[in-house]
Amino acid sequence: MEQPTVRSFTTSNELSVSLADLVTKLSAESIEARDRFTVGISGGSLPKLLAADLKHRKDVKWDKWEVFFCDERIVPLEHEDSNYFLCKKELFDHVPIPPEKIHTIDPNLASENEPKEEDDSIDPVAEDYEKQLIDVFAGAKSIKFPVFDLLLLGIGPDGHTCSLFPGHRLLDEGVLWVAYIGDSPKPPPKRVTLTLPVVNHARNVAFVATGSGKQDILYQIFEDPSSKLPSQLVKPTNGKLYWFLDDAASSKLILP
Ligand code: 6PG
Repeated sequence: MEQPTVRSFTTSNELSVSLADLVTKLSAESIEARDRFTVGISGGSLPKLLAADLKHRKDVKWDKWEVFFCDERIVPLEHEDSNYFLCKKELFDHVPIPPEKIHTIDPNLASENEPKEEDDSIDPVAEDYEKQLIDVFAGAKSIKFPVFDLLLLGIGPDGHTCSLFPGHRLLDEGVLWVAYIGDSPKPPPKRVTLTLPVVNHARNVAFVATGSGKQDILYQIFEDPSSKLPSQLVKPTNGKLYWFLDDAASSKLILP
């Protein structure tokens, strides 16, 4: 993996403009090369920071986007905890992405019972979401992992990203594209998440973190590589890694 590009901005507005520049550029390049732009979006503070400037861009071929969620909470799609719902409010309601190209989980498939211990990362919602990825990325071909053009990731104060949490057994998943987690330390507990190999197969991965609450975890991520936090395990094999920070979040880092 080449060296990550780390940028810190005085204000979140400046961050949003620079992030929109990158997304617009990668969208254009991907559409030029492959006639589509495959992107995964996370929840939390990211959708708002992403959409703030991007939703005003007129030069984006929105009809060529294929949108997935890096992780999703297993709640109804119109629930305020839903990452889809959040992204809808912030972005999808403002730009013409065809609805059939926004790939959501089907919360109606959620089983009443917890998956059995021996196959506890498999669940009907996760299986269905993985099938949706297979349809878009593999079609009739057999491929080991999908290659997203861009994954947009947040960071939790414990170093989690997607719904991949420190010390969790899902960090060892090597086969599934989408996994179920029923014991997420961040509520709500039931979620689906892209797995680490999927993240590391992406062409571009961008972390976005703002606010002083992220200072300590960013210091640990950058200065203590031995901690093996999920966010530190994100090392796209053939892709590029970007960090979009604000000065409040990056204040303990020594940046060039
Ligand atoms: C989720 C997220 C999660 C998020 C981080 C950071 O659905 O909970 O996708 O991984 O990105 O927890 O959240 P903040 O940006 O709100 O701190």
